[in-house]
Amino acid sequence: MSPLVIVGAGDHGRVVLEILRAAGEAPGGFVEAGPVPASVAREVEGLPVLGSLAGQPEWASGDTRFVVALGDNHARREAFERCLALGLTPVAAVHPTAHLLAGASVEPGAMVCAGAVIGLAARVGADAVVNTGASVDHDDVVGPHATVAPGAHLAGRVTLGEGAFVGIGAAVREGCRIGEWAVVAGGAMVVDDVPAGARVAGVPARQMAT
Ligand SMILES: CC(C)(COP(=O)(O)OP(=O)(O)OC[C@H]1O[C@@H](n2cnc3c(N)ncnc32)[C@H](O)[C@@H]1OP(=O)(O)O)[C@@H](O)C(=O)NCCC(=O)NCCS
Repeated sequence: MSPLVIVGAGDHGRVVLEILRAAGEAPGGFVEAGPVPASVAREVEGLPVLGSLAGQPEWASGDTRFVVALGDNHARREAFERCLALGLTPVAAVHPTAHLLAGASVEPGAMVCAGAVIGLAARVGADAVVNTGASVDHDDVVGPHATVAPGAHLAGRVTLGEGAFVGIGAAVREGCRIGEWAVVAGGAMVVDDVPAGARVAGVPARQMAT
């Protein structure tokens, strides 16, 4: 099988490693998004940190595959695009305990964690994250680089724009559209559309002061 690296050697990276191993993959190591001093030899969970995305990475070959494991949506998008520019191939990391119902799809580079449910005909975009125990219901669209945090729930026909973030334990009413790079705070209940770039919190969710 062609080599597989995890971009991001922090906690998110450890979670992605566990997902990939549970799914039968054997990643060859981690790569840092930022520079790593050449003198530092490091291992995470028994795997080497091979280098970084900076410059012309020696660890990258034409058939290297990758998953970006960074929690911040902006940072994840930047690293994802850098990997594509290097000619690497994104793969999806889907935990075997996640449920994908009929017609559900997960784009390359996306991550679906343990116990998550991706409903009927729902779509999870490239480099998006559906975290532990979250649910994405029928006909939803999770845009590229978006995050559905642990235990968050999207009702049916919800759309998350590119880079949108739905915080831990939040819920989104059916049919609502969450705009690009908007933030839904943990524990919120969204009952109306959220404009691009807005930050909302509370039950029902309202714009945050800052
Ligand atoms: C919404 C959020 C992003 C704001 O983070 P922040 O910009 O650092 O905000 P702060 O912690 O400085 O709080 C700013 C104000 O918002 C309030 N606030 C923060 N989070 C809130 C929430 N989830 N619901 C309601 N109010 C919240 C704070 O109490 C504070 O109010 P104050 O100004 O009256 O004291 C963050 O609190 C949150 O909910 N993150 C989700 C965490 C998560 O999902 N983690 C899992 C990742 S996979």
